[in-house]
Amino acid sequence: MKEKISSLLAEIENIKAENAEQLEALRIKYLSKKGEVTALFSDFKSVPAEQKKEMGALLNDLKNKATEKIAELKAKFEGEKQAEEKIDVTRTPDPIEIGTRHPLSIVKNKIADIFSRIGFTIAEGPEIEDDWHVFSALNFPPEHPARDMQDTFFITKSPDVVLRTHTSSVQTRVMTSQKPPIRVLCPGRVYRNEAISYRAHCFFHQVEGLYIDKNISFADLKQALLYFAKEMFGEETAIRLRPSYFPFTEPSAEMDISCNICGGKGCAFCKNTGWVEILGCGMVDPAVLESCGIDSKVYSGYAFGMGVERITNLKYRVKDLRMFSENDVRFLDQFKSAY
Ligand code: PHE
Repeated sequence: MKEKISSLLAEIENIKAENAEQLEALRIKYLSKKGEVTALFSDFKSVPAEQKKEMGALLNDLKNKATEKIAELKAKFEGEKQAEEKIDVTRTPDPIEIGTRHPLSIVKNKIADIFSRIGFTIAEGPEIEDDWHVFSALNFPPEHPARDMQDTFFITKSPDVVLRTHTSSVQTRVMTSQKPPIRVLCPGRVYRNEAISYRAHCFFHQVEGLYIDKNISFADLKQALLYFAKEMFGEETAIRLRPSYFPFTEPSAEMDISCNICGGKGCAFCKNTGWVEILGCGMVDPAVLESCGIDSKVYSGYAFGMGVERITNLKYRVKDLRMFSENDVRFLDQFKSAY
């Protein structure tokens, strides 16, 4: 009997059940009325009197251990069952927070998208440039104020390395490396040595465009810009071209759109004029075509350039330019619904 008790004890200490049903089967096997442990209690009657004390203690110990073990496993299964019930596998998962695109990128992409529909492709170039690509090739006279220390960040004087002040430098690169017809859009960051305030920054973003082919006229330029204005600001938008001056275009113009805040009636934003300026443009000066190796007797072209911050302000009414580079998520979060 002693052996039987110790072998059962060893067996019980090692019992394993994978689920509640298996455990119940084990309980029946050992502890039910017909169970193995219970059966030993019936055998106890035939144990000689002098061994009864020792056997009784061993038997009780076996029964307690078996009961404990079964209870312990039962508690484990019940805990698991409860945990399972707490996990609702059918629940919709929490939405994943994916950041927002920067408003300047949203607007830049939109500008690129609008012009891509009339055949413009993207051209990019370096932000660190030389004087020739930024100024000389574009017909800036040597004493032009834009070359002045106040506007341009010079990196070294000789050789002349500067931070580009406009993405027209990319147009120079395209004109000197490709043959017409050329139809490119040049987005990118530019640098000017200006005091930082709510309306000026030492860096900002531009999108410039260049179209060179045979028989390109000012009418083509005007039509492309009217199409852009309507796509960007709405079908009801009107444009106005005012004569202006740029060294690299002749004739040159500045383009206004009807104020999209008051609809042209006059408000504080448009200083009661009903118009807001959005870009510079003109016909590429023949001298620029020639300095880039394009025959100005065969080809003509137009160019335009706009500030992305300015267009973004008009679209989203961002009052302080500095917000674009502060990386405040409370500001950026507001552009979640844009694309
Ligand atoms: N490059 C000019 C600027 O930075 C914009 C411009 C581009 C004007 C092309 C005319 C034609 O202000």
